[in-house]
Amino acid sequence: MDIITTVREMRRLRSSWPALSSVGLVPTMGYLHEGHLSLVRRARAENDKVVVSIFVNPIQFGAHEDLERYPRDLPRDLHLLEESGVDAVLVPTASEMYPPTFITYVEPSGPLSSEAEGASRPGHFRGVATVVLKLFNIVQPQRAYFGQKDAQQVAVIKALVADLNLPVELSIMPTVREPDGLAMSSRNSYLSPEGRRAATVLYRALLAGKAACEQGVSDGPAGVIRVMRDVVASEPLARLEYADVRDPETFQPLETLRAPALLLIAAFVEAARLIDNILLRPD
Ligand code: PAJ
Repeated sequence: MDIITTVREMRRLRSSWPALSSVGLVPTMGYLHEGHLSLVRRARAENDKVVVSIFVNPIQFGAHEDLERYPRDLPRDLHLLEESGVDAVLVPTASEMYPPTFITYVEPSGPLSSEAEGASRPGHFRGVATVVLKLFNIVQPQRAYFGQKDAQQVAVIKALVADLNLPVELSIMPTVREPDGLAMSSRNSYLSPEGRRAATVLYRALLAGKAACEQGVSDGPAGVIRVMRDVVASEPLARLEYADVRDPETFQPLETLRAPALLLIAAFVEAARLIDNILLRPD
């Protein structure tokens, strides 16, 4: 497995591979868990070469967010990736990605980037879209793999690929959960044992929202949102940031209940800001 830290080296390796070999890219911020590894396994099954990037992208973090304390364990990550049969790991430094001369950003617009997660984290999707475009240009994959856990990120990246005509096929993988339903996340490592138990409230709220959709609530999306809020309010260690019902592609709020619909939730549990979602598909 090649471990690569510069754009030049990545380009050199990429051009040493047979011209017709297909390349799959899995972008990550490291501290890998089964959610990440499910993407890696799919990439391994579908491509001749698999590249995983590990880069804690500073420009997608807000000024008061957790950039400094974001968990990192490169030796463990490299071991897991080696075991998964990855061909190359791209681990660039921040100055390699953003030298002092750097001035060009990708700015998604509209509700997709400014509402829900975008409202809570201004500038976040600009940082995500910019780094993902850079990674696509550096690695030049035919396919790239993302998790539905970050539903709004998926919608932003789909728009990026469509709007800028990027020759990359996206593959979206389902959310991998702990046995008690908590969506796997590198940020779960911030939780104390008590907080870890409390964190299941996000998924419990989503399931209650889903049941309300299926049973039919009298006041539509507002009723579903209320159900989800009430569940989160019942957990003293959790502080809700938003609960929402939106269109999975445009991220416009739904006015009436219909499928497809995305139930979304973001909440702090102790120092961890956690997000989760459930996609309701048409029957
Ligand atoms: P990160 O949070 O490390 O996640 C990397 C990829 O793993 C993302 O596509 C994410 O949706 C997926 N993922 C995370 N948890 C998952 C889970 N429980 N089940 C399935 N997939 C999961 O998302 C990012 O990094 C960054 O924003 C990035 C795209 C790398 C750009 O910096």
